[in-house]
Amino acid sequence: MNARIAESFYDVARVRADFPILSTSVRGKRLAFLDTAASAQRPLAVIEAVDCYERTSHANVHRGVYQLSQKATDAFEGARERVRRFLNASSLKEVVFTRGTTESINLVAQSWGQRLGPGDEILITWMEHHANIVPWQMLCQRTGATLKVAPIDRRGELDLATFKALLSNRTKLVAFTQVSNALGTVLPIKDMIAAARAAGALVLIDGAQAVAHQRVDVQALDCDFYAFSSHKLYGPTGIGVLWARESVLREMPPWQGGGDMILTVSFSGTTYNDLPYRFEAGTPNISGAVGLAAAIDYLDALGIERAHAHEQRLLKRATAALKAIDGLQIIGEANEKSGVISFVLDGVHPHDLGTILDDEGVAVRTGHHCAMPVMDFFDVPATARASFGCYSDDADIDQLVRALGRAREVFG
Ligand code: ALA
Repeated sequence: MNARIAESFYDVARVRADFPILSTSVRGKRLAFLDTAASAQRPLAVIEAVDCYERTSHANVHRGVYQLSQKATDAFEGARERVRRFLNASSLKEVVFTRGTTESINLVAQSWGQRLGPGDEILITWMEHHANIVPWQMLCQRTGATLKVAPIDRRGELDLATFKALLSNRTKLVAFTQVSNALGTVLPIKDMIAAARAAGALVLIDGAQAVAHQRVDVQALDCDFYAFSSHKLYGPTGIGVLWARESVLREMPPWQGGGDMILTVSFSGTTYNDLPYRFEAGTPNISGAVGLAAAIDYLDALGIERAHAHEQRLLKRATAALKAIDGLQIIGEANEKSGVISFVLDGVHPHDLGTILDDEGVAVRTGHHCAMPVMDFFDVPATARASFGCYSDDADIDQLVRALGRAREVFG
């Protein structure tokens, strides 16, 4: 769909009415929620789906023959099927529920990563979230493998030529984000996947910041692992997904032991369950899965492309408005960006700025955004970050700009 046509049909007031929290106020001011990249708000459809499950369907899953347990199992497995369709995965066996993106990446590092040894390399980029850095550092410490980092430039774009030059037959895994949480950069993942494939490496994509803003088709992407969190997708916290290609997942050893991941247990030996249950030890987050499925339904009905077009318009408008503010510098000006603007204001520490904005009802994230290497690269201790979702509107931007004017007054 043409982006302009898609956006012209978008009724943001109606979308906002779906999110009860947006009609609350902060310190007597209208809430301008501009921290969707940290955690998106939930529409009533998600809140009600979770509430309904809790009131009518809860029991443990995969364990009881009684009706309620079957109902809960159907709800949980129905959510898995919803995720499968959302990602266009070819099989339910490929959809593993986790606590979120961080746990999904740790699962790969701890299970798949066991095969690595000295001489093997993992390639990431300089703009990764800590969740896509630290598990690989820990893995390299355990196995003697080497972590390589592809550099970025002053606009916050990946240096693709160096990324490609860092690939070799030693590269066993390439792990990168689809969208930078700290800069908003959309990475050229098609080129990156093709280059990694040509080098014979597996590919893991951190989709946390992408999945609510663009359609994901894991078969078309031709990656091996795709990780995301429900709470960035208007769903509950504490649940996420690791999608993994079945042939890869089948070769991976279990990573956590316990109930549900086994077929038989005896003191002479244990046999493991089939996929994906082998990677889901213990009672899962059942209501979270139900909420995630409702969030996917919500976003599908809204139209992810239409929401994206709307967010892109806001991004352009907010970028221009912020650039016009004296002493404000935007950190991360990549050609293709998601709805994220990181910035610093001369003479004002981002944390002080965050406090003043909060006084004006504006919620932005301030800090290093779990991306300290990005902060080091741009030589800033922290930034303030405004990020947009399907419910963000022009009034949010106006309120942000007014609040920044107030910060200017306070700090001279
Ligand atoms: N990863 C989340 C963020 O970018 C928490 O804010």
